[in-house]
Amino acid sequence: MERPENKIKESKFNEINDENISKLVELRAKINGDKNLEDLQREAEKYLKSKDRKAFISQEGEIATGFVQIKLEETELPEGSPNIDDLTNLAHLARIAVDEGYRGKGIAKKLMQQAEEWAKEQGKHVVWLDYLATNEGAVQLYKSCGYKDLAEFTDAKKKKLRRVAAKYFNNYEHTNSRT
Ligand SMILES: CC(C)(COP(=O)(O)OP(=O)(O)OC[C@H]1O[C@@H](n2cnc3c(N)ncnc32)[C@H](O)[C@@H]1OP(=O)(O)O)[C@@H](O)C(=O)NCCC(=O)NCCS
Repeated sequence: MERPENKIKESKFNEINDENISKLVELRAKINGDKNLEDLQREAEKYLKSKDRKAFISQEGEIATGFVQIKLEETELPEGSPNIDDLTNLAHLARIAVDEGYRGKGIAKKLMQQAEEWAKEQGKHVVWLDYLATNEGAVQLYKSCGYKDLAEFTDAKKKKLRRVAAKYFNNYEHTNSRT
């Protein structure tokens, strides 16, 4: 069987900067379907203004195929989730998506690795994220990347079951004084 590494050998993975930000914007517009390009451009520019935030994009030639966004600054846990003290002020994987036509080739896994490497370089020991429990792609991707579920909760707004998961590096251990 072909190994995933071989399946993505044509892909390039790049940091998003002022020069290639339009690739991120166009890809997000394509994946989201309905969003306004100008709004997405403003959102992307605002997101990348902070040195504590990073986005990476995957490309096949000039075609953008996937992206990931990660933040280092303190991010509030989603509304309705239990308190997990040691998940504040750690790296938060905010968003990941791969264009439908390019899924199943290991692109998301490679994007996750890029985001994690950057977080580690910035001295972080933990990356956390949350996801919809019924999103099979997300469930499998995060499991395959070594994330462990820490809590399950019902999203306060949409009333949907979500999970908080994290990956710990450098033998850093999860501690939670409130649960
Ligand atoms: C989830 C998503 C990012 C996965 O992207 P992808 O490039 O297809 O994922 P990969 O090819 O890197 O797969 C990584 C692992 O997850 C598994 N996987 C990915 N999608 C899967 C699916 N729909 N069903 C079952 N397993 C899946 C792969 O088999 C692979 O497992 P392995 O490492 O054991 O071989 C993509 O489906 C997507 O963009 N979905 C819409 C946006 C989204 O849901 N983002 C997550 C929000 S929290």
